[in-house]
Amino acid sequence: MQSTTEKLRGAKLLDDRRNNKSTAFTAREREDLGLRGLLPSRVCDAQMQEKRLMRTLKNKETDIERYISLIALLERNERLFYQIVTQNLEYTMPLIYTPTVGQACKEFAQNFRKSRGFYINPSDKGDIRKIMDNWPEEDVRVIVVTDGQRILGLGDLGSNGMGIPIGKLQLYVAGAGIHPEQCMPVMLDIGTNNDDFLNDPLYLGWQKPRLEGEEYLAIVEEFVMAVQDKYPRALIQFEDFTTNNAYKLLDIYKDRVLCFNDDIQGTASVALAGVFAYERASGTDLKDMKFMFFGAGAANTGIGDLIVSAKVERGMDEAEARKQLWFMDSKGLIHAGRDNLASHKQGYAHDIEPLEFVEALEALQPHALIGATGTPGTFTQDIVEKMASFHETPAIFALSNPTANAECTAEQAYSWSKGKAIFVSGSPFDSVTYEGKEHKPGQGNNAYIFPGVGLGAVACELSKVTDDMFLVAAQALADMVSETDLERGTMYPSLNEIRKASLDIAVAVCERAYDKGLAQASRPNDLEAHIAEMVYDPNY
Ligand code: NAI
Repeated sequence: MQSTTEKLRGAKLLDDRRNNKSTAFTAREREDLGLRGLLPSRVCDAQMQEKRLMRTLKNKETDIERYISLIALLERNERLFYQIVTQNLEYTMPLIYTPTVGQACKEFAQNFRKSRGFYINPSDKGDIRKIMDNWPEEDVRVIVVTDGQRILGLGDLGSNGMGIPIGKLQLYVAGAGIHPEQCMPVMLDIGTNNDDFLNDPLYLGWQKPRLEGEEYLAIVEEFVMAVQDKYPRALIQFEDFTTNNAYKLLDIYKDRVLCFNDDIQGTASVALAGVFAYERASGTDLKDMKFMFFGAGAANTGIGDLIVSAKVERGMDEAEARKQLWFMDSKGLIHAGRDNLASHKQGYAHDIEPLEFVEALEALQPHALIGATGTPGTFTQDIVEKMASFHETPAIFALSNPTANAECTAEQAYSWSKGKAIFVSGSPFDSVTYEGKEHKPGQGNNAYIFPGVGLGAVACELSKVTDDMFLVAAQALADMVSETDLERGTMYPSLNEIRKASLDIAVAVCERAYDKGLAQASRPNDLEAHIAEMVYDPNY
C-alpha cells in the first residue's frame, strides 16, 4: 500500500491508519521500517488479527460498544477494518449500519472522538468551494450527503446524523470495493428543529432552527456546484432527507449532475429485486402482478414507480400498469377524489371508490402487500389471512425499520398465512420453522444495491444516473438468488455475497450507460474484468 516515495517509518507508520499493519509487520519489515521494539514480539497474520478482534467484539456486552470498537480499529488500521467487515458482513453490517448506527447517531456527541467527515453550516455560505480544498483527498468519486432531518426512523438528529454518510460509505468500500480515499461523507448542518438538541449545551451542531425554503435550497445548490468544480466525476448520494426535500432535490439535480436518492431509488431497486425473485418463486408473471402499498412516502412511491417502469419495460402500457398498484397512506386509500395530494402520489390517484383498507384489499386481491409506514403491527392477522386466501403464494413485504417498526414479524407472516407467504423485511429477522419447514426471510437491504451502482458509476465515469439503472441493478441482484434460496422463501442472496452482487450490478449499470451514451470512459474489451481489477482489496 505504502508508495516507495512515501517514507513513513517507525512510530509515524504505526500512527498512519492507511499503511499500518500493526502486529502483522514481518520481522523483515520491522527491521527495514524502524519498527523493532515498537511492537509485541509475536508476528501475526491477518487471520490471527481478525480472530482476536472478533473475540473482542463478541465479548462486548452491547452493540454500541462493538460499533465503537470497530471504529477505533478503523482509526488504527484501515485495511484490517475492511478485511474484517467484508469477510463477516452478515455480522458486521448491523453494527456499522442499521440498527446500531441509529444509536451511534443519537449518541454522536457523547461518543465523538475524531472528526471523519465534511461539515457545511450556514456561516460557510459563499465559501463552500473554498473550504472544500481543506478536504485531504484529490480524487473523491462518491459523496454521501445528508441534512440529518430524517435519520432512519429516528427523525431530526441534526448534525448527529453524520454517522449515516460515514456508515454508508463504509458499505461502499466493504460491499463494492470503492477505495476509501475516494469517499467523502458530508453533513449539511443547516440547523435542527429537535428541541432536545437545541437545548443541549453539549450538542455539536449548528444550534439554531433549520434553514428552510430559498435559503435552504441556496446552500444545497452552492454545495452541489462546489462538488462539480472540485470533484466533477463524483457521484452524489442524497441520504435521509425528508420526503418533500428528497423529491424536490432529486427533481432539481437528477438531470443536471451525477446523483441519486437512496431512500427513493435504492429502496425501490432492492424491493424490485425482491419482486423479480418473487416472480420466480410464485410463478406469477410481473405483468399480472397486483400490489397494495401501505404507506405512500418516499420509500413506497419510489418502489411503485420502479415496478411500473419494470412492467412497462416488459411491454405494458404505463396507465394499465399503474392501475395494478394501489396505495394507502395515513389518510386512507389514495384515489382521484382526494384533494391536495403530493405530486409523488398523484400517479396512483385512480378513479376508484374511497374504500376502507380491508375492502380495498378484497377489491384488488393483490399478490403482494408492501408496507413502509414506519408503524409497527399494521399488518394484522386478518390482513395476512386475507392475503393467503387470494393467492397460493402471497408476498408480504414489511419494510419499516428498525425491526421493532416492522408491519408484522416473520413469525406472524408465516403462521398467519399457514406457511404460504413469502416474507421480505427491511430489518433482519431470524429463520422460522413452521410445521417442520424452515422459512428464511429475505432482508431487502439497500446495501445490496447502492454500492454496486456506485461502482458502476465510477467504472464507466457515468454522467448521470437514470431510473432504468436501478431496474437493471434489481434484475442483476435477483439473478443471483439460487433455487435453494427461493425454496426457503429467501428473495435475496446472502449478504456475504455482496461483493459479487456489486460486481454484477456494476456491470449491468455500465452496460446500460454505454448503450445510452452516458459513459464518459471508453468501453474496455472485458468490462467485468476491468471493474474487478479496479476494486479496493483491503488484504495486506
Ligand atoms: P415517510 O414518512 O415518507 O412515509 C411514511 C408513509 O406511511 C406516509 O405516507 C404515511 O402517511 C404512511 N403511514 C404512516 N402510518 C400509517 C398507517 N398507520 N397507516 C397507513 N399509512 C401510514 O417515510 P419513508 O421514507 O417512506 O419510510 C417509511 C418506512 O420505510 C420507514 O420505517 C423506513 O425505515 C422504511 N424504509 C425501509 C427501507 C428498506 O427496507 N430498504 C428503505 C427506506 C425506508
